[in-house]
Amino acid sequence: MSFENDSLTPPIDPEVDGLLANLFMTEEGRNDPYSIYSKLHEKPPCHQVSLGMIVLTRFEDCQRLLRDNRFGKDDDTEGRRRQRAESLDLSIEELDSVMKFFERRTTMLFLNPPDHTRLRGLVSRAFTPKTVEKLRPHVERLTDELLDELSGRVDIMEALAWRLPATVISEMLGVPLEMREIFRPLVRSATQMLEPTLTKEEFFTGIAAGKEMTTYLSELVVERRKSLGDDLLSKLIEARDGNDSLTEEELVSTAFLLYAAGFETTTNLIGNGLYALLKNPDQLAKLRSDPTLMPSAVDELLRFDSPVQFDGRSALQDADVLGYSVKEGQVVFTILGAANHDPT
Ligand code: HEM
Repeated sequence: MSFENDSLTPPIDPEVDGLLANLFMTEEGRNDPYSIYSKLHEKPPCHQVSLGMIVLTRFEDCQRLLRDNRFGKDDDTEGRRRQRAESLDLSIEELDSVMKFFERRTTMLFLNPPDHTRLRGLVSRAFTPKTVEKLRPHVERLTDELLDELSGRVDIMEALAWRLPATVISEMLGVPLEMREIFRPLVRSATQMLEPTLTKEEFFTGIAAGKEMTTYLSELVVERRKSLGDDLLSKLIEARDGNDSLTEEELVSTAFLLYAAGFETTTNLIGNGLYALLKNPDQLAKLRSDPTLMPSAVDELLRFDSPVQFDGRSALQDADVLGYSVKEGQVVFTILGAANHDPT
């Protein structure tokens, strides 16, 4: 099917608005986004919702947008802060004073090049594919131990899906294992802040959680400086690019990001993956009979029911998407879950 772009603004379709409202705001949409994605795929691939955001649903379009350096993160611009303040019913001064504790500005997730390039370069010196590969035998052993403990009816999300990655990232960073239980709800509240439907209450809970983790990790950085070890936090402290190194703030926010990213996503990949295999016993049997399929099975499960269902960027300058014009500051949502089920 092909769609003609007969105007400069992406089409606005009340039906698409309704589908997106269902997707983001209802329990039903959260539980079964895929039936909404298939309805979205019957529509043109680019929309503008009535609030002004643009939405993409096709694989190639999402991929191209996420790689396009005319688009990036603009959380810190006055326009976006004002918008966020308004949506949370706060003044911009109130928002700024609350946000300054959250250290978002020194986190890779919210930066653009060249700041992003610099930070990522330093972090990559400490966190290398080799570091991760070296962990493989230990992670395999840990997985076996957790599986050996299982018997009868178990909550697999608790016993494996959360415990395994939370243990691995804690050990990697050198965060004591007993902090896992304390950090778990804090990470949940902090990552909730990435949701487009964030409420005022969730915002303040997220900020409080962020502050608590930041305070703990700041103290950990001070302690670790006194006695460096073989862990990732020590390596981040030691990472150098010429005379450049991570500042205290960057160390804390990077440790925070790695800790949270280390298990929020992977826990849900294990959970969603197991669920998908149990719902598709033929696929499970195929995998059991040929374990060499495992690497492609992981990729496929990541596509089939990804823990990250959408991402987005803002136009850093006036630009265009699929032939439509986009204004500087305009947000483009890439619905990754839909892109991963693109029928074209
Ligand atoms: C199933 C597992 C995972 C998924 C689906 C996933 C997904 C993502 C996505 C979609 C982004 C990009 C966000 C954006 O557009 O800005 C991202 C960024 C990032 N993730 Fe993950 N992630 C996973 C596991 C992890 C793990 C285990 C770690 C670390 C231990 C990690 C660390 C990071 C970091 C540091 C970034 C920022 C990278 C940058 O801005 O250059 N992620 N992840």
